[in-house]
Amino acid sequence: MKSINMEGKTITVLGLGYIGLPTSIVLAKAGHKVNGYDPNEEVVKTLNSGKIHIVENNVQDEFKKVVDSGNFKAFSKIQPADVYIICVPTPFKEDNKEEKLADLSYVESAAHDVATVVKEGDLVILESTVPPLTTKMVANIIEKDTGMSKDKFHTVHCPERVLPGKILYELEHNDRIIGSDREESALMAKNLYESFVKEGTCYVTDDITAEMCKLVENTFRDINIAYANELSIICHELGIDVFKLIELANKHPRVNILTPGVGVGGHCIAVDPWFLVEKFGDNARLINTARHVNDYKPLWVSNQVEEEIKHDKNVKIGVLGLAYKPNIDDLRESPSIILAEDLIKKGYTVYGCEPNTKKEKIKNIEVKSLDYVLENCDYLVITLANKEFLEKKEKIFAKKHYNCIGLK
Ligand SMILES: NC(=O)c1ccc[n+]([C@@H]2O[C@H](COP(=O)([O-])OP(=O)(O)OC[C@H]3O[C@@H](n4cnc5c(N)ncnc54)[C@H](O)[C@@H]3O)[C@@H](O)[C@H]2O)c1
Repeated sequence: MKSINMEGKTITVLGLGYIGLPTSIVLAKAGHKVNGYDPNEEVVKTLNSGKIHIVENNVQDEFKKVVDSGNFKAFSKIQPADVYIICVPTPFKEDNKEEKLADLSYVESAAHDVATVVKEGDLVILESTVPPLTTKMVANIIEKDTGMSKDKFHTVHCPERVLPGKILYELEHNDRIIGSDREESALMAKNLYESFVKEGTCYVTDDITAEMCKLVENTFRDINIAYANELSIICHELGIDVFKLIELANKHPRVNILTPGVGVGGHCIAVDPWFLVEKFGDNARLINTARHVNDYKPLWVSNQVEEEIKHDKNVKIGVLGLAYKPNIDDLRESPSIILAEDLIKKGYTVYGCEPNTKKEKIKNIEVKSLDYVLENCDYLVITLANKEFLEKKEKIFAKKHYNCIGLK
């Protein structure tokens, strides 16, 4: 399939977080003029002072280069362009934590923002992870706000599948799925992505398949992790080592069981499967169950810790790792935080330790340095293999502990 040349087009990226900022950088590096737009004035101020506001490998250095090249500037008002890339959050609705319903208000507001500046022939790309049919919703909002028929502009969904810690590398190396209900629109987006995707292939499909693609990828991972987490609970009952069991089971040539942990966190795997449960109810039974298994795991760990310390409220507990995975600052949906908060709620003294995140970002948990925790806690819960913990492994293992991750 041919692509349509997008050279020389200006781009406005909406949302300058973990996805929008690195995406702006790779686009600017590829020679495009990029306007970053974020309504958070602090973010814009920080970026325009030459600093970044997220913790992510290599981003600060590469950001400096694109700012120096003149290809990137941040704004707190949307700037007119030829292409709009929407990278805004898609969390759960705050007012209904139980049902876990998709909050599309950021996407809606971004679509309204685009409608204030979009012109005929422009390309609007939705990168945020969304429930099926949301790309059509974006087109409908723009059509309604502008009065311009949706065949006069282009709407595309191109989901993001990067790994935090390796975002810049993966943006240039991963395959991309580009979906639209019009081939011409998809081909425009394909050309744009091919300007920075060095190693991966850009595959073109329809918009709904592209939306589902992202959701089924993360759901696949969630279900597989749920299996490992459920096994850890069963093995505990049997009194055997789940990590040893999995190592042996994986000697089978067609078996590859994942490693259990304290649960599942982050803005993606812990969230996206709920979009399918919300839309498909009883037809998404396996997906729903896996989500419940993974959400239960930190509470189960909390119960095990209580048993191990014999419900002694004088025992000071240290939780080693509060982000949702090792060596990153992202706390969203983190199961370690759920674990620590549950122990606090039960009346225990808990100190959290997370070397990658500023203390002020963590509410409800007293955060201390690793040395403080080692000195003052009687019992440790190892939830993440942060590099700082690996360096002091002997001291950690010398204390009574619960090893959620099979750290050796
Ligand atoms: N973080 C990841 O690793 C990852 C991976 C794959 C997909 N995603 C998806 O990408 C999307 C963005 O995630 P993120 O991690 O970058 O979020 P983020 O919270 O780090 O950044 C989002 C930014 O969007 C801004 N914003 C809010 N409303 C806006 C609007 N109307 N216009 C412009 N900007 C607006 C916010 O101020 C914030 O700075 C989500 O849908 C997420 O599920 C994230």
